Amino acid sequence: MPLVSGRILFERANELVLAVPAFNFSNLEFLKAILEVAQEEESPVFLQTTESAIRYAGIEFLSGMVMALRESFQIPFALHLDHGRSLETVLLAIRHGYTSVMIDLSDSPYEVNVAVTKKVVSLCAPLGISVEAELGVLGGEEDNVECPKTFLTDPQEAKDFALQTGITALAPAIGTAHGPFKSTGDPQLDFERLRQIKEETQMPLVLHGASGVYYEYVAEINRYGGEIKKAKGIPESDLKTAIGLGINKINTDTDLRLAFTAGLRRIMTEEKSITDPRKLIGPAMEEVREVIRRRIRLYGSSGTAGAYLP
Ligand code: G3H
Ligand code: 13P
Ligand code: ZN
Repeated sequence: MPLVSGRILFERANELVLAVPAFNFSNLEFLKAILEVAQEEESPVFLQTTESAIRYAGIEFLSGMVMALRESFQIPFALHLDHGRSLETVLLAIRHGYTSVMIDLSDSPYEVNVAVTKKVVSLCAPLGISVEAELGVLGGEEDNVECPKTFLTDPQEAKDFALQTGITALAPAIGTAHGPFKSTGDPQLDFERLRQIKEETQMPLVLHGASGVYYEYVAEINRYGGEIKKAKGIPESDLKTAIGLGINKINTDTDLRLAFTAGLRRIMTEEKSITDPRKLIGPAMEEVREVIRRRIRLYGSSGTAGAYLP
């Protein structure tokens, strides 16, 4: 199955109480690893790029690679704009063939978030492009902006927001955070809040800031000269609970970054004479592939690609 609208993935996952894995990429290696492992696992997948990924790689390169591969895989996949911050970025994504966008004005006043999101829906809906929006504020780092506090999503406001905007999917804040430092103690996800948000909205929900921040990769980074202190992720069991309560898309970026950094630091320390980038990046990508597989299996998404067929 080729590149599909995110709408298909969101709506089917909501019906089946499943979560579609979503991974961030900003280069050829990550895109290749995500698509190949998803195909091996027979899982649908969201391929997503942030605005800073677009600034880094250029949208022509990122979308061009995906468009060239649109008929090459047997799994359904969507190209998604992650944390789009303006109408201009959304229009850019639409022009480049993205099949799903996120508009994130969660840090703006509620009325502004509603108005701009509504406008994005009016542009995307006729084109069959899904729209994800965020309500509430996650902790951690979003596009290099530090959020000092976490404001969790109010279930009644979530319902009002969904009705007013006509979005396809909502990303609520329930206690996760972006980046490798999710909390000082154990992260406390507000599952009762999630249950209420699902009950009120009945719509596809997205979990951001969901990385596990696996100890082995943090330890490997530190062992080979890195300095990542007090890193803390979301326990895998919490993600299973969240899926059961109606999370239908789970975003992972940090875990791939940590695995890559660990692999690269190791190979550069152990193989001091290598200068061929392929021989440095290749082994690091093996660690990234393992994490992609682990996450897809964790969500129970392996073998579900066929369930997204029309
Ligand atoms: O929220 C998404 C990311 O983990 C931040 O990614 O550094 O590409 O903006 P970025
Ligand atoms: P992590 O930083 O937990 O991987 O979250 C990524 C994310 O939410 C991308 O939108
Ligand atoms: Zn996010």
